[in-house]
Amino acid sequence: MSARTDTRPLFIPVVLGTVRQGRMSEHVARFVHAELAKRPGVETELVDIRELKLSNTDEGGGARDVRFTETVARADALVLVVPEYNHGYPGLLKHALDTNLKEYIHKAVGVCGVSAGPFGGTRVIENLLPVLRELGLVTVFWDGNFSSVQKAFDAEGNLTDAAYVRRLDKFFRELVWMAKVLRHGREHVALEGG
Ligand SMILES: Cc1cc2nc3c(=O)[nH]c(=O)nc-3n(C[C@H](O)[C@H](O)[C@H](O)COP(=O)(O)O)c2cc1C
Repeated sequence: MSARTDTRPLFIPVVLGTVRQGRMSEHVARFVHAELAKRPGVETELVDIRELKLSNTDEGGGARDVRFTETVARADALVLVVPEYNHGYPGLLKHALDTNLKEYIHKAVGVCGVSAGPFGGTRVIENLLPVLRELGLVTVFWDGNFSSVQKAFDAEGNLTDAAYVRRLDKFFRELVWMAKVLRHGREHVALEGG
């Protein structure tokens, strides 16, 4: 089956990457998840790292939440919604990502950066890229950038700036293309030397 004729839905979970009380990233993650769920040919689910049962006294496989690992194993791609904390990513997101490894390999990932400041989380995204690469994920060259997030949503979490719908569409198109290509590659293209 070619990537062009493959009609199976892609599974693309959205990961909410902070546990902070009052997190604005939750509004972003719910919006991103809802927009992604509207796309034909895509199945999604919202993964809140606050809900994961991870050990804090172990790492890797020893700390994992089995359901999260199964979700990542089933996924064709991931969307990470990541707030910028001192230009970096939340430590608990890194801990959650570190609990899996082979489940990520040759899968697509896109990042939505969230910041109170004007740069839409670009600095956290840049800092996260080497981590994602080391996990075996393949990053797309388009991001979601939610700057001045406190103005982009009202107190109930409703979007106040409709331009984000169009911006996300561009991001999703790139992510879906990469997810399809990589699924085709995982299933049909052998790695030289095995
Ligand atoms: C510890 C910490 C550090 C932060 N550092 C930055 C920063 O470097 N740049 C920025 O634009 N906003 C920064 N913020 C603001 C967050 O980007 C802001 O809270 C935004 O709403 C996303 O995070 P949230 O989902 O936790 O709300 C910081 C917030 C916290 C809690």
